[in-house]
Amino acid sequence: MERKMIYVNETDRVFHLSNGEISYILYVMESGQIGHLYFGKALNVKGRYLHMVERVHRPMATYIREGDLYTSYEHLRQEYPCYGTSDYRYPAMEIEGGDGSRICKAEYEGYTLIHGKKPLPHLPATYVEEQGEAETLELTMRDALWNLKIVLSYTVFRDIDAVTRSVRFVNEGEEDLFLNRAMSVSVDFADADYESVQLSGSWARERSVKVRALEAGVTAISSVRGHSSHQHNPFLAIKRRETTEKCGDVYGFSLVYSGNFLAQAEVDNYGVLRVMLGINPFGFRWKLMPEEAFVTPEAVMVYSADGLSGMSRQFHRLYRTRLARGYWRDRERPVLINNWEATQFNYVEEDLLRFAAKAKECGIEMFVLDDGWFGARCNDKGGLGDWTANREKLPEGIEGFSEKIEALGMKFGLWFEPEMVNKDSDFYRAHPDYMLKTPGRSASHGRNQFVLDFSRKEVVDAIYEQMYTLLSKAKISYIKWDMNRSISECYSIAYPADRQGEIFHRYILGVYELHERLIQAFPQLLIESCASGGGRFDAGMLYYAPQGWVSDDSDAVERLKIQYGTSFCYPLSCMGAHVSACPNEQVGRVTPLETRGNVACTGAFGYELDLNRLSPEEIETVKRQVAFYKEQRKLIAQGEFYRLLSPFEGNFAAWQIVSQDKRTSLVTVTRMLSETNGPYRRLPLLGLDAGRKYHIAGTYNTYDAYGDELMCFGLMLEDKSSGQILDGSGGCQDFLSVRYEITAQTD
Ligand code: DGJ
Repeated sequence: MERKMIYVNETDRVFHLSNGEISYILYVMESGQIGHLYFGKALNVKGRYLHMVERVHRPMATYIREGDLYTSYEHLRQEYPCYGTSDYRYPAMEIEGGDGSRICKAEYEGYTLIHGKKPLPHLPATYVEEQGEAETLELTMRDALWNLKIVLSYTVFRDIDAVTRSVRFVNEGEEDLFLNRAMSVSVDFADADYESVQLSGSWARERSVKVRALEAGVTAISSVRGHSSHQHNPFLAIKRRETTEKCGDVYGFSLVYSGNFLAQAEVDNYGVLRVMLGINPFGFRWKLMPEEAFVTPEAVMVYSADGLSGMSRQFHRLYRTRLARGYWRDRERPVLINNWEATQFNYVEEDLLRFAAKAKECGIEMFVLDDGWFGARCNDKGGLGDWTANREKLPEGIEGFSEKIEALGMKFGLWFEPEMVNKDSDFYRAHPDYMLKTPGRSASHGRNQFVLDFSRKEVVDAIYEQMYTLLSKAKISYIKWDMNRSISECYSIAYPADRQGEIFHRYILGVYELHERLIQAFPQLLIESCASGGGRFDAGMLYYAPQGWVSDDSDAVERLKIQYGTSFCYPLSCMGAHVSACPNEQVGRVTPLETRGNVACTGAFGYELDLNRLSPEEIETVKRQVAFYKEQRKLIAQGEFYRLLSPFEGNFAAWQIVSQDKRTSLVTVTRMLSETNGPYRRLPLLGLDAGRKYHIAGTYNTYDAYGDELMCFGLMLEDKSSGQILDGSGGCQDFLSVRYEITAQTD
């Protein structure tokens, strides 16, 4: 039987979205504006909640009606606020009329309930598959003067503690309007006693977890680079001070979008917190002509009382099952080997075939040919834009080479950087006007390359044609879609002056369109997204590419942090993680092969080194790793993920994956620096069945224990013989890692 999830109190004009675990409650104010009442743990759906509105007379406030000394938007919690009509905080929207005025008075007009969820036109979004999985509330507001319709859309999911939001603007009037700001979500929390959690960093150290206490004023992260960026991820959580990984209140906000974004938390002078997320208003200006509509990207809000790990598990469930899609969503991902770190641009076909043959011997299933295979590409100065094989390197082209790889019994994958062009390319010579560039100004380069103007259909078409031709002719099962620079001098010669503020967004729509066309043409193609590592690792990309290259830093110790941070919002199934050579290319560190394998295998696993350079013993280790991953990959991709020890906080990193039926679990523990004569250590696990007996097969320890013991007393980390944690040989070594396979037993 379908469960009802949206409760409407027509008398009070209160809307209560609840799946029994979470509630999101809003109402229509007397003035017609939409007010916010509550978001959090589920409340009784029979409750009446209008008394939650706090409305007192405040000094220095401005009031919306003469004679009324109480109704000031500055002091009312709202759902989609605007500036200029008595609220002085940052607004969710700012719209400009033909006369330059910026006051919008959007008033409630009506509501619609929808079973399920509608797709967002030309944008990535979560979806439903079966009847009853989700319900959607659409609230329509109208600005009477402009005849502008604004539809706030909310979807609540039956089995996932998430509410998604997006906003649709429809110009039903007669004058041109401009959207200067159109956030996807805005929530006014009743108090501000929270800390914010953000994922920030840089190239090769993406998504470090940063926590800061919210104070009066604005705390914000953003991107203005044209992609979601290495610097900040389009994700923001707010948590109580006492919230930990395991318990406590936390709200997560994630934007299903890959371009410029703003995530902001504003604490006002009465301790109200406004959180908002959406397209970055900086540089954004969208012209909305009569009869045109604009839809914001989708924002996802998650609430969990089970701490940060609890929040992450809700995101993982939603993103793994109802954002990622298509042929590869639930399929086991191939173990791949990529030649980039081993060869960079310098290779000939024989090298690659030797490379692949050795990989095949180890059980690896796919060979991925990275950068350097096309056009005049012998370094990063030329070739981008010419997506045909360089015959000096590959005499029989990609067609011939892919057949040779398939003849080895492997699948073949190929690197592209579709959005970029080098001036030294036939494509550029034929279309020098296809790149983004401001007229009369010089264009900055990044890695000697320039950005194609993907806001133009003919540019996207031209790249699609090249990719389509190659993908149709050659045996290509996978593509790695790279993007190695940020956008600068953003301007499109195809659009008039008053539409230049649209180009960043139109660019991303072009990127999405190319993805969509390729997926429609080649539904079984596996796409891995990449942007100099994790520069565009966001929920938007996940809709098209079920996995993404997490970072160009493949050092196992650095990866502990990067993958730990990434897991705050994104599931393991989408984290491309490879074992690379030592000393590591990026940090020069030498780590044991076992540790590199343990860290990489809790993602979409692969290798990034020349196996011909390994010793016979190391090859045996690789074979064991590959076999282990193949056995465990379903659990790793589809299990519930628990972070146990943070690499940001101590010498150990540990995480655990538990199958949905709680019968199997995998625990990975890594110690950064060696220690001697350390304390006894146990690691309390999570997510197991308390009454069930499990067999624990560790690297050194093997024993049976009940779930309650493992969760309350903890998993024994010691090696009993030597007393040395993580070290069965009795010797000491930095960067050691062990894993424990835990399997349910019959009593
Ligand atoms: C950046 C990527 O992150 C690397 O893995 C590699 O594909 C290079 N680009 C190739 O140029």
